[in-house]
Amino acid sequence: MSVRALWFRDGTLFLLDQRELPAKTVVRRLTRVGEVANAIRTMAVRGAPSIGVAAAYGMALAARRGRSTPAAAARLLGATRPTAYDLFVGIDTVKAAWEAGADPLAAADAYRERVVDECHRIGTSGAPLLAKARRVLTHCNAGALATVEWGTALAPIRVARDRGAHLFVWVDETRPLLQGARLTAWELGRERIPHAIIADNAAGHYLARGEVDAVIVGADRIARNGDFANKIGTYEKAVVAHENGVPFYVAAPWSTFDARRPDGRSIPVEERSESEVLRIGGRRLAPERSRARNPAFDVTPARYVTAFVTPNGVVRPPALAKALARAVPS
Ligand code: MRU
Repeated sequence: MSVRALWFRDGTLFLLDQRELPAKTVVRRLTRVGEVANAIRTMAVRGAPSIGVAAAYGMALAARRGRSTPAAAARLLGATRPTAYDLFVGIDTVKAAWEAGADPLAAADAYRERVVDECHRIGTSGAPLLAKARRVLTHCNAGALATVEWGTALAPIRVARDRGAHLFVWVDETRPLLQGARLTAWELGRERIPHAIIADNAAGHYLARGEVDAVIVGADRIARNGDFANKIGTYEKAVVAHENGVPFYVAAPWSTFDARRPDGRSIPVEERSESEVLRIGGRRLAPERSRARNPAFDVTPARYVTAFVTPNGVVRPPALAKALARAVPS
């Protein structure tokens, strides 16, 4: 059964609250831009493409209410999560329409359709890469929840399965917020795709034993040279995959590619509250006086990427700048 992370109807943005999954299915109804900003900041909606679409609708809600300017609404939404480039593409797309006197809601709808279509195409372009793989490892959640529909990393897995591949998925649990154990496992379970959740620190063990044929992840921002930011822990998986000769694929729509950033050094990395590390499921496990650090993302150098899976096909890192110039003219 397919999943939809969010939808817009009768002046309301409906969101599946991802903090509650898989225990409860809770749908939030948002009618103000401030509520959308809050949902993004607190990760009721998460995953770079979904964040971008939610922000696009946040802009449309602000325009409809008439109490904000395009610049003020863009500032409010843009201050929520700094790493996901899609956030800024979603905001800027609707801001431009609003400023030009076009219909902001139509612009948000068109943006959503573009993201969904690109993720579907990622599925078809990436599926052949997995045709011979039996065991695929993924990190965080890069499924429909993170992209409105289809997914990025999960889209080729879905399409390969639909074409008859018998894939098994290793699901990194993804501490501290457990997007793998809670969300990826939930999505795969609904589609009856065989999988096992592993502790984040178990991935190297299976990679070294030859029990992983390919790694595929999503991204939050990809620089022009192919360095990319994704959920914390991705860098380690890429290095260990490289060390063991396992192909490492990064799947993303064009809204994740930041053509103006030459490399990964200047990608902003979000640091979230230490309580996400100190507590699990609301319960504090660490000693009362211990402090924690909580970077939400890390940056993986392009040299560890075997290929990018884009809506327009598979691109090897040396060819990325050219492919980007064709797909996203700056
Ligand atoms: O902090 P999150 O859960 O929003 O982080 C999400 C990720 O890192 C995903 O891997 C990324 O957004 C790609 S989603 C298609």
